Amino acid sequence: MDSPEYLERRRTPFSPPTVTLKEIHDAVPKHLLKGNPVLATLYVLRDISFTLLLFKLASHISDIQAGLFVRSFLWLAYWWVQGLVWAGIFCLGHDAGHGTLYRSTWMNNLVGFVLHTVSNFPSFATSSMERDENYVPYSRSDYGLPSKDKARQFDYDEVFEETPIYTLSRMLIMQGFGWWVYLAKNTMGSKMYSPGTNHFDPDSPLFKPEQRNAIIISDIGLVVMVLLLSYAGPSFFFKYYLVPYLASPLMFTYLHHSDPTIPHYRKAEWSFLRGAAATVDRPLLGWMGRFFFHNISHDHVAHHFFSSAPFYNGPAITQIVKNVLGASYNYDSTPSFYALYRSFTQCLFVEEEGDIVFYKNKNGEAAREVAYDAVKRIKVDGWDPVAQDELDEKDKAE
Ligand SMILES: *[C@@H]1O[C@H](CO)[C@@H](O)[C@H](O)[C@H]1NC(C)=O
Repeated sequence: MDSPEYLERRRTPFSPPTVTLKEIHDAVPKHLLKGNPVLATLYVLRDISFTLLLFKLASHISDIQAGLFVRSFLWLAYWWVQGLVWAGIFCLGHDAGHGTLYRSTWMNNLVGFVLHTVSNFPSFATSSMERDENYVPYSRSDYGLPSKDKARQFDYDEVFEETPIYTLSRMLIMQGFGWWVYLAKNTMGSKMYSPGTNHFDPDSPLFKPEQRNAIIISDIGLVVMVLLLSYAGPSFFFKYYLVPYLASPLMFTYLHHSDPTIPHYRKAEWSFLRGAAATVDRPLLGWMGRFFFHNISHDHVAHHFFSSAPFYNGPAITQIVKNVLGASYNYDSTPSFYALYRSFTQCLFVEEEGDIVFYKNKNGEAAREVAYDAVKRIKVDGWDPVAQDELDEKDKAE
């Protein structure tokens, strides 16, 4: 089920992109970076109306004179569609966090707060998401594995052997609750912060002092939501809320950054451009993803390069970025759920050494190699990722 693009990447040793950020920026016309507040509002209203309409429709399911089978099917349909809508609301909230819905920061914050609170995700904490602070890979020593030349198959088996049922349930748990665990304890978060760093704590080192009030407001929003839900009662909570909620946005955030063919850079080789290019566009859930998730998954690479561009210009920007990046543009049409399974079972750990690393699987094998000659050649040609990054930042400030 691996897509042809994925297989091609596996076969091709990896060399980092050689285009500059300036080339990418120059290629994108400025008008695509400007937002239209009316359009943004229409999308927000659209998604809120969908939510209310679905609540209304679901409230009639129990009235329907039909067998258990039909009613169960209708509940499943409700959960599925509502889950899609809420993931879309999460995306809108996330975009508000990037300040792309409205011109005023105040409006963006307000709308973002409401959208995140309604979809019950701490609003201000999610802004750390794209600074690559989540999904930092586990390393060999995190698992207590012996070194590369010493480790035997037996050692790997001991750590990673598990039955498919176990893998599947681990995956479901990560999809459903992993997000909360990450927020509460910074699991898989950046190693810059001590383990257990909490995203709800206003004094957490994750946030700047000026973000303190925002975190407090975000926490209050969550508490209010939890109170409202308890007031609505367990039956409402389980039937209307929990399942769609668990069909959470984690799936797409995880999938865009964790793939056996996508590199992770350590500091010496990292640059903004390389980080942005180390993401994947996926046609997640096909037209449903386009429609409900506002193309966030289809146009994810573009979002990393131009996080201040409005989401509805994503398709146009993707076309341009794809042309400029050439072979460094990553796309993967592997069916979404299989891709999730593949990443989950194959992206287990990375080696401690090396500045460009790929995930390894349960046998300690990486799906892709680094083309070290190409990396060296780039250096000889005068490419310095750190210097480039400084230029890039200046570029962005302009
Ligand atoms: C998503 O992409 C499709 C195809 O390019 C486009 O027709 C649609 O308007 C886009 N949706 C949004 C929200 O931008």
